[in-house]
Amino acid sequence: MSAAQNLPRRIVVGITGASGAVFGLRTLQICRELDDIEVHLVVSRGARSTIHSELGIQVRDVLDLAGVVYQDNDLGAAISSGSFVTAGMIVAPCSIKTLSAIANSYDDNLITRSADVTLKERRPLVLMVRETPLHRGHLRLMTLAAESGAIIYPPVPALYTLPSSVDEVVDHSCRRALEQLGVFVAGTRRWNGATADA
Ligand SMILES: Cc1cc2nc3c(=O)[nH]c(=O)nc-3n(C[C@H](O)[C@H](O)[C@H](O)COP(=O)(O)O)c2cc1C
Repeated sequence: MSAAQNLPRRIVVGITGASGAVFGLRTLQICRELDDIEVHLVVSRGARSTIHSELGIQVRDVLDLAGVVYQDNDLGAAISSGSFVTAGMIVAPCSIKTLSAIANSYDDNLITRSADVTLKERRPLVLMVRETPLHRGHLRLMTLAAESGAIIYPPVPALYTLPSSVDEVVDHSCRRALEQLGVFVAGTRRWNGATADA
């Protein structure tokens, strides 16, 4: 086994100011429950606002769930370079502004720079884009990002799991999004023919 295989898997999580801060929070909580995931976290200024307004918790409570936390203007951070090896990045939720920056490689903050690095290194980049309804410009941005390799992953509920709460919907979306980075969590409900199975 190589030295790299002994390292915890690093993933980068960006939380931006779209509605749905809970998707970022739940992603961090799931990773925290796993032994071998090292989360590198960037929270945008917009997300600091939605964390307050939608979750009613302190930003510090979110930051505390990550292994390493960066300021979003820290363009010299480790995750700004492709030489820092990660298993990929998830932006949860991803605003249209950040989608636009990523689609156009407009790397003026650490979330967009790290996302661009993830793409150029051909690592999985999952964008939980949250906006509705979508105009043609939004759809074009998603196409552009997808053409560069991004995985467009809007947090659309999987109702075949017969969720009984919003928490279950959020949890399932985050688990499935993490699977795109090779992070699998036991107990994720799946469609198994006629019924949804654990
Ligand atoms: C309460 C609230 C909800 C928002 N919801 C969305 C949203 O669902 N999608 C979106 O693209 N922007 C949304 N915005 C706007 C973004 O926060 C804004 O465009 C911000 O500049 C995004 O910057 P960031 O991507 O750097 O966080 C919302 C703003 C607020 C205050």
